[in-house]
Amino acid sequence: MCGIVGYVGGQECAPILLDGLRRLEYRGYDSAGLAVHSRGKIDVLRAVGKLRNLEGKLREVPLAGTVGIGHTRWATHGRPSEVNAHPHQAGDVVVVHNGIIENHTALRKQLQASGCEIKSDTDTELVAHLVSRRVAGGLPLEESVRATLSELEGAYAIAVLSVKEPNRIIVAKKASPLVLGLGEGEMFCASDIPALLPYTRDMVFMEDGEMAVIEADKVTLSTVEGQPVEREAKRIDWSPMMAEKAGYKHFMLKEIFEQPRAIEDTLRGRLDREGGDIYGTEFELDVAEIKRVILLACGTSHHAAMAGRYYLEGLARIPTVVELASEFRGRDAVVLPGDLVIAVSQSGETLDTLIAAREAKEKGAKVLSIANVLGSAIPRMSDAVFYTHAGPEIGVASTKCFTTQLANLLMFSIWLGRRRDVLSAEKSAALVEGLARIPQQMAEALKGTRQLCANLARRYVEARDVLFLGRGLSFPIALEGALKLKEISYVHAEGYAAGEMKHGPIALIDSKVPVLVLLPKDEHYERSLSNLEEAKARDAQVIGIATEGDEEAREVSHNLVEIPASLPELTPFLTVIPLQLYSYYVADFKGTDVDQPRNLAKTVTVE
Ligand code: G6P
Repeated sequence: MCGIVGYVGGQECAPILLDGLRRLEYRGYDSAGLAVHSRGKIDVLRAVGKLRNLEGKLREVPLAGTVGIGHTRWATHGRPSEVNAHPHQAGDVVVVHNGIIENHTALRKQLQASGCEIKSDTDTELVAHLVSRRVAGGLPLEESVRATLSELEGAYAIAVLSVKEPNRIIVAKKASPLVLGLGEGEMFCASDIPALLPYTRDMVFMEDGEMAVIEADKVTLSTVEGQPVEREAKRIDWSPMMAEKAGYKHFMLKEIFEQPRAIEDTLRGRLDREGGDIYGTEFELDVAEIKRVILLACGTSHHAAMAGRYYLEGLARIPTVVELASEFRGRDAVVLPGDLVIAVSQSGETLDTLIAAREAKEKGAKVLSIANVLGSAIPRMSDAVFYTHAGPEIGVASTKCFTTQLANLLMFSIWLGRRRDVLSAEKSAALVEGLARIPQQMAEALKGTRQLCANLARRYVEARDVLFLGRGLSFPIALEGALKLKEISYVHAEGYAAGEMKHGPIALIDSKVPVLVLLPKDEHYERSLSNLEEAKARDAQVIGIATEGDEEAREVSHNLVEIPASLPELTPFLTVIPLQLYSYYVADFKGTDVDQPRNLAKTVTVE
């Protein structure tokens, strides 16, 4: 996501901040900016696009000073533009922020009502105003930030400057990362380790609910409530490459492990746990008008869309079709009055999806898009957008974007089901509660299955064909498991609806073929178990993916991977994890280029 760098010391800070931001480029960004204390004022410079644009501006308008903050923005509130870029200034105060302030709508209204002029669409500028008011009232910066934090809901790492206190930066952290770097007569902060590695290797990792005052000769940590905190610095001996991947060998593995956080960010501000419902104010759809849903997508997003059909039909009782965007476009597909198109695309730029959605719109359909990149082409042409908040995905094979798409499709289905009066309050409340637990359960599944998946991958690394089977919601997950394996390990893999196995793939099975069967406890369980037995009877190596404690599945499988128990609708979030890990380790053992597999591209803007 966004990057933060801060410096307090004796050197000119602009080059250090810029260099730090460059080392955070891998996180993805669409605009950047710097703020530097300079003789009784703070100079701010911002630019859309790559850092070289900011650098160009800096050459024209150099920023001189030894205390400052920098930021690379990956848009979440308001499209990428100079006015939305950080740092944000209000009065004497300048702020950079990573994360999402959940109660931004209420704060904006409150500030506007009291006559505040807000220039950008961001949630961050609101924080600058809230702090600035307190500073103007005479409160020291640290106390102003502290008091403001108590008004904020959501996730943040912030760094704040005030004209009145030119020798310090105040930082605070909740749910977004922030590290402090300790030097000799100079101190740093950053949202990630690589930014600071050339300057210091002694780092203090801030915890949620903590603040720090950064000055040239010391950093002072405290809790937001004001209790002093003592924490030893850690010496980091990672190489810069290792640091970018947070110590993981590949971006893909890092992104697999980021899923609990990505889902948490995507659910943030959406779950109405009291009302057992989903907040969906931006949908602005006339529910009574929707007669059918057409899901359009490509690749992994198409698998999420397939799961979306089960959700939409099951929970919102709305007729739903799923189409490969490349097959929908150009065949003059029938679009009826009352059709709602949901275009699912991580990048928001996939050409086939864009053209297919455009064609449907021209024929009168309303378009809702589910995308991860704010302001990208598909959201721009849509009537409504429901963003995922996975953060930038670097590995070409999609993982965290897939599960966050599932989350949005499920949330939208619950929302629609409630408004169509077809989903009971009890069921809706149970799903909302279940969803709230999913990040934690995903973390458990990651921890619990990693080693086992690596062992299985080692055992079957030489297999030339692999089958993935599932029924119901597990069918698109089986397809996704097979796609992951193909994409990164170049092993031939097929995902199949388990019930179809007898109509063809069963002929492929022999003792050399591993068959992974998804066996979550749902209404398909018994039949899927029978399919596993059928494969086993033909000498296949069968690997069951089942709910923990499932003794029946353990008895019949050669290998069993256990996932935490959940409602049937939520099992895809958990069953997909061992499939992602299995594919990853097969590819890693084969030594392929995991993050950039041959012939594949992250964003496909060709036909
Ligand atoms: C490419 C990527 C896939 C992705 C697909 C659709 O093939 O390699 O990971 O699923 O495009 O991309 P989208 O951005 O529309 O989700």
